[in-house]
Amino acid sequence: MNLPTPETTARPRPTTDSDFLRACRGEPTTRTPVWFMRQAGRSLPEYLALREGVPMLESCFRPEMVVEITMQPVRRHGVDAAIFFSDIVVPLKAIGVDLDIVPGTGPVVAEPIRRREQLHQLREIEPDDVAGILEAVHGLVGELGATPLIGFAGAPFTLASYLVEGGPSRDHRLTKQLMHSDPELWHDLLGRLASIAGAFLRMQVQAGASAVQLFDSWAGTLSLADYTEFVAPHSRAVLESVADLGVPRIHFGVGTGELLGAMGEVGADVVGVDWRVPLDEAVQRIGPERSVQGNLDPTTLFAPTEVVHAQAARIIEQGRGARGHVFNLGHGVLPETDPDALTRLVEFVHGHERH
Ligand code: CP3
Repeated sequence: MNLPTPETTARPRPTTDSDFLRACRGEPTTRTPVWFMRQAGRSLPEYLALREGVPMLESCFRPEMVVEITMQPVRRHGVDAAIFFSDIVVPLKAIGVDLDIVPGTGPVVAEPIRRREQLHQLREIEPDDVAGILEAVHGLVGELGATPLIGFAGAPFTLASYLVEGGPSRDHRLTKQLMHSDPELWHDLLGRLASIAGAFLRMQVQAGASAVQLFDSWAGTLSLADYTEFVAPHSRAVLESVADLGVPRIHFGVGTGELLGAMGEVGADVVGVDWRVPLDEAVQRIGPERSVQGNLDPTTLFAPTEVVHAQAARIIEQGRGARGHVFNLGHGVLPETDPDALTRLVEFVHGHERH
């Protein structure tokens, strides 16, 4: 496989002037760009048809499926960016961690990692471990033309929460127990996860991704003090590992109202905001040096169209005070969402005049 070198990726790409990248950089846009977290997935009948009989993780390692599933929402909704179809646990699977994605549950780890002797499992990731995935990224970039591709990774804390708990958790009790009772092991664990996530993001950009998003979905479970001490240095290391590549870095978590400033400061160009904080208030918390992404409540899409569009209009107005605004939901598309509601929302956002 011929992957471009960093030198070739530094050349202007057809995506450079897209509204999405302009908003991420805080430059004027012709209209508000929009994409949706989890836009590729179970809300789309064409996704369900393609995935029939293929386990989730297996589909993530099949380049032709990754390309097709990533393209589906771009074709259907006309969104301003694609996010490559994968999952935050894919790089861990690729280096040999015994885990699976259980339908309706999420990632489940066979032997939860809670002891120092287990850390060796989290070795550095190499391009060969994810050759098929990088091939898919490379192919996608060709197919997408001027539409930017967002690469992504799970942030060290959110990855650690799955590894330590062994699966999804409501209170993250065991994760926090490890963090507070063995800080040295904690920092070693998060340090390894940061290396993996950083290297994986770098490979995606070198294969042609135009932006990256670091998902720290469950960081909102932490106090600001714990976030700052136990998590921020590792998220900063991840974002730092792609700083020289010149692509926008988006950083997102759920329930992170009290962490928005801190999440920006670890090296994000764009901070993703969930629906709990009004976007204009979030802009105040994040400051003038970063753009914002968000923040329609995903369940609003089950309301009448007038309600959805009224809320979208409010969010666009609230985003005007930001350096740049990328419209999105405040978390992922729910599987039960009517795809037509998403298409109508894209049309509305694109057509909405900013006053
Ligand atoms: O369109 C996109 O956004 C790209 C695809 C994507 C998936 N997972 C596909 C997926 C992305 C960006 C993710 C990231 C991810 N995975 C996160 C961070 C984003 C977030 O939602 O907060 C997290 C926390 C995970 C872990 C995970 N994987 C969960 C919680 C689940 C859902 C469990 C379920 O079945 O309800 C998964 C599985 C998963 N990842 C699915 C998809 C499409 C569903 C599996 C299927 O279709 O069978």
